[in-house]
Amino acid sequence: MSESSIKIIGQVADFASFPAQVKVGSEPYFIVEAPRSGDEPQRYNLISAICPHAGGMVRPHKNELICPLHYWCFDLATGESTNIPGEQLECSPLEIVDGQFALKA
Ligand code: FES
Repeated sequence: MSESSIKIIGQVADFASFPAQVKVGSEPYFIVEAPRSGDEPQRYNLISAICPHAGGMVRPHKNELICPLHYWCFDLATGESTNIPGEQLECSPLEIVDGQFALKA
């Protein structure tokens, strides 16, 4: 039997722009605008701010998240590395439930 739970990340109205830094538990993340096509409504992803290489803290720069330790770069919308093939930041889609960003576990 499987159970699903929802973790509330925060009120959508509290975030004026993206990427937005948030903590989930004690872990740092960014809420980012997810890729979309045509007239799809805007969707959002929750991307870890911890670099998968050696644990550096990535920072937004233009359309990427960049790790200052060894300069691995990641797409700002998906977390996929743009310079290290096959690597990526942990990334999960967010849902909006009753005006709140929600993460399904
Ligand atoms: S720890 Fe991020 S590139 Fe090395």
